[in-house]
Amino acid sequence: MHRPQLEEFIKRMDQDSVAIIASAPEATRSNDTQYRFRQNSDLYYLTGFEEPESIAVIAPKQEKKFTLFVRSRDPEKEIWDGRRAGIEGAVRDFGAEEAFPVSEFSEKLGDLINNARNLYYRVGDGNPRVDNIIIKEIARMRSLGRKGIAPPQAIVDPGTILHEMRLIKSDDEIALMQRAADIAAEAHVEAMKTARPGMKEYEIEALIEYIFRRSGAAAPAYSSIVGSGVNATILHYINNDAELKDGDLLLIDAGAEYRGYASDITRTFPVNASFTRAQRDIYDLVLSAQLDCIRMARPGVSMDELKAHSIEMLTEGMVRLGLLQGDTAKLIEEEKYKQFYMHGLGHFLGIDVHDVGRYYNEGESRRLEPGMVITVEPGVYITADTKEIPEKYLGIGVRIEDDVLITEDGNRVLTNKVPKEPEEIEQLMAR
Ligand code: GLY
Ligand code: MN
Ligand code: MN
Repeated sequence: MHRPQLEEFIKRMDQDSVAIIASAPEATRSNDTQYRFRQNSDLYYLTGFEEPESIAVIAPKQEKKFTLFVRSRDPEKEIWDGRRAGIEGAVRDFGAEEAFPVSEFSEKLGDLINNARNLYYRVGDGNPRVDNIIIKEIARMRSLGRKGIAPPQAIVDPGTILHEMRLIKSDDEIALMQRAADIAAEAHVEAMKTARPGMKEYEIEALIEYIFRRSGAAAPAYSSIVGSGVNATILHYINNDAELKDGDLLLIDAGAEYRGYASDITRTFPVNASFTRAQRDIYDLVLSAQLDCIRMARPGVSMDELKAHSIEMLTEGMVRLGLLQGDTAKLIEEEKYKQFYMHGLGHFLGIDVHDVGRYYNEGESRRLEPGMVITVEPGVYITADTKEIPEKYLGIGVRIEDDVLITEDGNRVLTNKVPKEPEEIEQLMAR
């Protein structure tokens, strides 16, 4: 065993308990074709094992603390679907102290969890087949009490330990996240240099994802959003099939997944390389809120405090620009800003783009700590049919998003290689 994450997890577990972490199921795209497999994030974090139909069993008190159930080698199947590590590879390359064919999981399960105090298993985490095997086995064991067999007393979410570990990134993880951020940053810069009126959103999407893949990223970390004009006001716009029009803004929210770690960047820029006055009004407001929130992001500050600050700044700006009328404090209390700023300020980032980790502890917003990575992504979205606002703002959508590592004395922006100052964007595009 040589994975620090696994060793730390074993240390933090209740020592008389057993943990089971299962792979993600394979996903069908249609009929008999599959999506490319993407491992369950917890299993990937703990073991680095990337094959489907695999299960890790972790038992601190037992002689073999780390067991892997994997697909057996199968020359016929490997011709179609690619190489498998097999039993030997699981031991040799992934540090399992013991490995078995996954087909033997159900029959071995009883012995593995017999007399364990708790079973750490994340029920309902997307693998109903394994859920079922475990539930059935526990029921079977219950009926064997007279023979000295006892199922675990409780099923505990391993996330209570694992997700708190994942929330605080190690130096190795930070290096991977920096690489994911650099790849996405390069893609956004190229998009700025390339976009011009008459192109289609999907051409920019293709360029971005070409750069991701060319750089060794496995895939986009989420469906890329490339929305021009009013499409920028649709938060989850992913069709990306409209034409870029002279005078429109283009909002791109795209990030790469590199060796399991996500980046998540949004930039908004004018298709014709120069912002209009009205676009600048909205853009400058979002940018000033974003920069301010990033400056605030340091150990001890809570996620809710950051969010509240963004709401204050954006609501004040909305009043100043005539998007809202009235007293700022009252507008905030009545959540009127939500008409134009309806999502959160940001989220944890890591192996999952919306990463794990508790946002609240006993109802209190989580305070930032060194090693956390968050996004800071305020936005203002004004649909084309909004009533009673200055007409020049209709159909404008702006979001600016960066990935921010919290450090001992403040933070480091992982994604600052993409310009966001409007003059810098215009200069880059004009070249
Ligand atoms: N692209 C997903 C997000 O920004 O949260
Ligand atoms: Mn995000
Ligand atoms: Mn995003």
